[in-house]
Amino acid sequence: MWKYGFKCVIILTTNGTTNILEIEVYIMRRKLIAGNWKMNMTPSQAVKLVNELKPHVDNKDVDVLFCVPAIDIIPVINEVKDTDIEVGAENVFYEEKGAYTGELSPEMLVDAGVKYVIIGHSERRQYFNEDDDIINKKLKKVVEHDLIPILCCGETLEQREDGVTLDFIRKQINNAFKNIPSEKAINCVIAYEPIWAIGTGKVATTEQAQEVCCAIRGFIKDIYGSLVADQIRILYGGSVSAANASALFVQPDIDGGLVGGASLKPEFAQIVNYLKEE
Ligand code: PGA
Repeated sequence: MWKYGFKCVIILTTNGTTNILEIEVYIMRRKLIAGNWKMNMTPSQAVKLVNELKPHVDNKDVDVLFCVPAIDIIPVINEVKDTDIEVGAENVFYEEKGAYTGELSPEMLVDAGVKYVIIGHSERRQYFNEDDDIINKKLKKVVEHDLIPILCCGETLEQREDGVTLDFIRKQINNAFKNIPSEKAINCVIAYEPIWAIGTGKVATTEQAQEVCCAIRGFIKDIYGSLVADQIRILYGGSVSAANASALFVQPDIDGGLVGGASLKPEFAQIVNYLKEE
């Protein structure tokens, strides 16, 4: 996780004199490198992959996360329990419990040991008709349970070409964070994933990725102010590879990556260790 930031004003009163001492602490956001396995890996394949990657990705300098299919969550958690690697889910439902065949509740994820959950991935928006309202309901519910959402946003190629990328993403962010209090928002993670870059090998340039991540930080500032905007982590996702990770992750507003295809390969270790590879 990131380290806490605070501004503290101490008033000392001695012998009738008052001294005001202001302490401001500047906090670095910790990088988060998250794999998104999507619908890949049976439980036995998952255990094998984790054991192959584990010795190479257990990195103290960054937060490392595997977001895995629901059926892999428990076996993967068992494999990483002696490490700092965290496990996330790829989806969650917004109701507490009940007659919702096939769904998983936040409480189930928390009880299994899950810390993060991807919400609003473009594949869920596209293939499962998840709209901003559903995404907002999911976000509200998971933060109630202190799960950390990785909220995905991003434009289509057509929107980019039409010059409406930032307007569209501002709308996605505003809708997703409706009625989320700032003390919850500060813990959330946002992933900027241009749809045209997902699984296509067509990565956004570092300038494009930085520009949008910086704009997203601005949208968060408009909603919550600077403290939340300075602390919230914003990832880039879309064809992240060992070749482009370090150039992306050193950008001032990019706090790591959401990695799809490359998270299923030994290459993921190079991405996690992007600083050591330089
Ligand atoms: P990709 O996927 O790295 O395979 O492009 C990223 C994602 O969809 O999260």
